[in-house]
Amino acid sequence: MAPKRVTVVGSGNWGMAIATIIATNTERHPEFEKDLTVWMFDEEIEHKGVKRKLSVHFNETKENVKYLPGVTLPRHVIAEPDIKKAVGNADILIWVLPHQFVPKTIENMGPVKEGAVSVSLIKGGLELEGGKLGLCSDLLRKLLKHEVAVLMGANVANEVAAGQFCEATLGCKSAEHQGTLCKLFDCLSFRVNAVDDIPGVELCGALKNVVALGAGFCDGLDYGGNTKAALIRIGLQEMKIFIRHFYPDAKDSTFLESCGVADLITTCFGGRNRKCAEAFVRSRGSKSWDQIEKDLLGGQKLQGTLTAQEIWPVMKAHGLCQKLPLFTTIYEIAFNGKAPWGIVKLPQGMPASAFAVDDGFFDKK
Ligand SMILES: NC(=O)c1ccc[n+]([C@@H]2O[C@H](COP(=O)([O-])OP(=O)(O)OC[C@H]3O[C@@H](n4cnc5c(N)ncnc54)[C@H](O)[C@@H]3O)[C@@H](O)[C@H]2O)c1
Repeated sequence: MAPKRVTVVGSGNWGMAIATIIATNTERHPEFEKDLTVWMFDEEIEHKGVKRKLSVHFNETKENVKYLPGVTLPRHVIAEPDIKKAVGNADILIWVLPHQFVPKTIENMGPVKEGAVSVSLIKGGLELEGGKLGLCSDLLRKLLKHEVAVLMGANVANEVAAGQFCEATLGCKSAEHQGTLCKLFDCLSFRVNAVDDIPGVELCGALKNVVALGAGFCDGLDYGGNTKAALIRIGLQEMKIFIRHFYPDAKDSTFLESCGVADLITTCFGGRNRKCAEAFVRSRGSKSWDQIEKDLLGGQKLQGTLTAQEIWPVMKAHGLCQKLPLFTTIYEIAFNGKAPWGIVKLPQGMPASAFAVDDGFFDKK
């Protein structure tokens, strides 16, 4: 069989970091074509006083100075600014764009190869459709008309790019594709475990960014580790309640994968959502989210605030606000002018533990 061509659609912080992992695997596994294409949304950059296109600079230096500065990618990672050329021949498409850019990108890209398969690394992009909660992978599946898997985990991009050990969870229904896709991502520093619970994996990845805003509010108020740990616990519990409401078959075991509790922890301690939420509190209402994103992220996109805005109408429409006091409080602090210390004054009545056997958290034998 001809080696499979792989294209990474997106070249931000995570797109570049995952390209370093994939490029190692396309080089060592003969079932993949060695050259790895990365679709690069082209921008004019100024680096050391010289102005030029980001893709031109990348292809010459193999460094994405805007989104992953200081990391040199392998020579066989090639930036392609033309979306049609980037995806036209690909057998495997790796989606790693901020979700707000997905529809336009697909609209511009033309046909994909028959039999191609996609993996979405996108966190967020939730939408209420006829009473059902639609996922970003659903949208990709609908628009691309081929199988879409997801990959989520405790994977802060800069740490992955530095080669630090971490784990990730692949959500994939087809056993045939599970094997190939694990091979594409898995290596000694990036261990991948495959499960078949796509909604569980994807929703954990999206919702933890909302909890991370709460963690940032705590940091902005100078609370310590105990408070943050409590918030992480309650956050995990609310993630479970939200996910189970829409996807009753989401598996308990998924929450204990890298995409669940591990991603939640890392995002509440590091990552951009926590950082910007801390700045939001410290600015005492003097800065908008847009301003904070601009000041702190250097062109990267803040995801947690968008996801909080996406799930808010969903929670209201489904009468979930009372069951999700933390999510509600986070939304109100972020967008309704509620005082940040409200984060430690959640309404009473929280169950004692997300892990209580009798609350249905663990799969019944
Ligand atoms: N950064 C991380 O640590 C991390 C880890 C796991 C998952 N993710 C997820 O990966 C996804 C991508 O995030 P990221 O961190 O790579 O992005 P980023 O915020 O670092 O970069 C923004 C990206 O958007 C692109 N862009 C800007 N305008 C565009 C347009 N009009 N059309 C198309 N693209 C445009 C930019 O070229 C850039 O690639 C998100 O869903 C994020 O939640 C990120």
